Amino acid sequence: MVQCRICGGPVEEFFDFGRQPVSDSFVTPQTAGSEFYFRLAAGVCAECTMVQLVEEVPREQMFHEDYPYRSAGSVVMREHFEKYAHQLLGTELAGEDPFVVEIGSNDGTMLKTIGRAGVRHLGVDPSAQVAGFARAEGVRVRTDFFQDGSAREIAAADGPANVIFSANTVSHIAYIDSVFRGVDALLAPDGIFVIEDRYLGAIIAQNAFDQIYDEHFYLFSVTSVRAMAERFGFELADVEPLAVHGGSMRYTIARPGQRAVSAAVTEHVERERETGLTRPETYHRFAQHVRESCRELVRLLTELREEGRSVVAYGATAKSATVINYCGIGPDLVPFICDNTPAKQGRLAPGTHIPVRPSEDFAKPYPDYALLFAWNHAEEIMAKEREFRAAGGKWILYVPEVHIV
Ligand code: SAH
Ligand code: TMP
Ligand code: ZN
Repeated sequence: MVQCRICGGPVEEFFDFGRQPVSDSFVTPQTAGSEFYFRLAAGVCAECTMVQLVEEVPREQMFHEDYPYRSAGSVVMREHFEKYAHQLLGTELAGEDPFVVEIGSNDGTMLKTIGRAGVRHLGVDPSAQVAGFARAEGVRVRTDFFQDGSAREIAAADGPANVIFSANTVSHIAYIDSVFRGVDALLAPDGIFVIEDRYLGAIIAQNAFDQIYDEHFYLFSVTSVRAMAERFGFELADVEPLAVHGGSMRYTIARPGQRAVSAAVTEHVERERETGLTRPETYHRFAQHVRESCRELVRLLTELREEGRSVVAYGATAKSATVINYCGIGPDLVPFICDNTPAKQGRLAPGTHIPVRPSEDFAKPYPDYALLFAWNHAEEIMAKEREFRAAGGKWILYVPEVHIV
């Protein structure tokens, strides 16, 4: 049994997806087959309840020059980060010469609002190409991994930070103890460390099994984040549910005693206990549902093929790597995936090598069915592609279960 990366307790494995490729390794026909493979399996810590992968992918295999994901690919996400940037500017960053650091600043979608307001900031992100897009937006970026050492250097040069913000990134960092040591070195005494991430409660409730992939090393809950913050010398002061990415949570962490702890923290911990999020049976039931969903999805796609219906996919998400490789969905069932990310277009999805084409190809001509891999952006995509349904097209979703709309 492996040991919890947070507390050293025993991690009970609850699902093994088998051999899986790195989820964001969109390959060319020439490099197809060069994907890095690992055993994707998830477990839950019997001590601190943190859900985590049992095998870690070396970080350089995931985050590098060619890392393709761009936050700006979704209008909803752009608006979401703009709104929070304004909120911070009006509160935590309203004092004299404030300084904010973002861990996983990607293409600068969040920090560009801060930069335009003339506030001192620094993005930290190891992926050079996306960091370049951020710089083009006037954002200051250090192309690096945030950890103890880099945080100390930032603290010495620019610190302390009033706010350290990180969306959909801290869960990607297995060596989270080093992140917290870095936060300790960099954060002002009364500063806040704000983490936004997909919420385990929503993942389990919706059977969103595709949220399990290499980059999502941890799946956070309020219970596990509170325990983690305490273990590393901090306090979870507030939590706020967010609708983005199919259900997320914003965690505000501070040094102990610096901020009043809101009632929302204990309320969520209590609810997580009531809904069984801390009990092993919940994960065994989840595992059962994952197997059923995959069987059902492949059965539907096979039937549609036999009936001569055309099916394409929409959104070459990192999540979909788990779906196509675990369920065994290749170009024979889904001939291509439409996506608006230039760095993914013209490439092949990792593992089963489904070609990725520009979103414009969706209408040339519309397929009978579209498998929505970017289900977390369903509202945005269905609104944008309303003519597809008007033309008689149907969407296939597999969260919370396989269904057609
Ligand atoms: N914050 C953005 C991007 C999330 S994608 C959003 O929510 O949309 C995750 C990002 O984290 C990638 O750009 C990746 O390069 C970066 N990343 C991974 N490990 C990191 C680390 N140790 N320090 C800083 N950034 C990291
Ligand atoms: P995500 O679920 O990790 O945010 O990834 C979403 C993917 O879907 C990303 O590759 C961009 C793509 N996408 C589109 O192609 N069109 C869209 O309208 C949106 C919102 C996303
Ligand atoms: Zn633990």
